Amino acid sequence: MFPKSPEKAAIAARKLSASPRANYVLGEALSKLAEARRSNALLEQAVTTFQKLTEMPGVPQALVLKAANRTVENLRFLGQMGRAVQLQTKLVARLPYVLSLQNQLAVSYLMMGQGKRAKTILKQVLKERPEDGFALVHLGFILKTEDQEYKEAISLLQKGLATREPGVVDGRFYFHLGDALARTGHNSQAMEVYQEGVEQGVFNSVYQRSLYNVQGLKAQPWWDPMTTTYRESFRILESRWKEIRDEALALLSQDQSRFRPETEGLQDTGDWKQLELFARGMKLTKNCQKAPKTCTLIEFMPDAARCKRGQVKFSLMNPGTHVWAHTGPTNCRLRAHLGLVVPPGEEIALRVANTTRHWQEGKVLLFDDSFEHEVWHHGPSMRLVLIVDFWHPELTAAQKRTLSPI
Ligand code: OGA
Ligand code: MN
Repeated sequence: MFPKSPEKAAIAARKLSASPRANYVLGEALSKLAEARRSNALLEQAVTTFQKLTEMPGVPQALVLKAANRTVENLRFLGQMGRAVQLQTKLVARLPYVLSLQNQLAVSYLMMGQGKRAKTILKQVLKERPEDGFALVHLGFILKTEDQEYKEAISLLQKGLATREPGVVDGRFYFHLGDALARTGHNSQAMEVYQEGVEQGVFNSVYQRSLYNVQGLKAQPWWDPMTTTYRESFRILESRWKEIRDEALALLSQDQSRFRPETEGLQDTGDWKQLELFARGMKLTKNCQKAPKTCTLIEFMPDAARCKRGQVKFSLMNPGTHVWAHTGPTNCRLRAHLGLVVPPGEEIALRVANTTRHWQEGKVLLFDDSFEHEVWHHGPSMRLVLIVDFWHPELTAAQKRTLSPI
């Protein structure tokens, strides 16, 4: 019945363009074709086809909803969030009792960075149906990530995850539930959540909780730099550390403004700033002009300079700083820290999983930041390190080329 090739399906379905079902089939065929040919123009046609269906009279509601879903999915993929919201708003007005439409409208707002709007809608859904798992986890997520309302977020996320409804078993919700618990002093409960995340297949292990992963890569918290394939790069960094340090210190004494406070809400107390030199595999020219020697050195390390899932940066930390235990986004990189200015003593420390180490001037520490790590500085004076991310040594050249940047 259903033609095997998308081309034939498209031709057959076009003939039946007055029939809602045929339009659905055509929309699917166009979507598949768009994917195969990586064509946004075809995807646009798919959108129009699905959308037309939602506007035809007398279409069964289930089909309208299916078509609306596909329209929104495709529009999100195309980055046309405004159009998605427009369509979704119309549908919500037409079918106000279908709560999934409101939930999906909230997700679109969330994707647009309009957390406030999303919140209002989700609260509305929960008024209608307090046990709605999808609305619970999404509202909890917003309260955790945007408002730091940890207590309320914990209760919503717990309740929502327990429903196991479609769309709730997602790494982000386990991630932020555990984080909110840890930040409010409930460490063992956090660990239980992470354990459940492992059982649900959203985390590699309780300590390794990155969400953008390549499966099967060697995974351990700490690495011995000199036994990796990058040992030559580490030797160079260690032998040239004074030049790197002097460049960073000169920069600090001239103009601190390029050092930016960390923006991901990882800092608990204190003062922690970074100056990025490379990000997502690209050199940041303006900053590199201020640290030309360091940047040139890095240019000779293509697995760092072109690491699309990493950065190179100076990291400056002052006494009194605590960085919450946190987990990087991806298992595709290893993170080197070259000690540049390190006051002696044990009060300045980096814990990765369950092992704590200390920086030394002129020495590289190498770890996998997809494992939970935590930093504290209770020393007497400023600590400065150069952070250099390298592609995970087991990635292939093709993977390094095609993985999306982070
Ligand atoms: C990191 C990190 C803190 C620091 O490199 O991932 O959290 O000490 N570093 O700069
Ligand atoms: Mn980190």
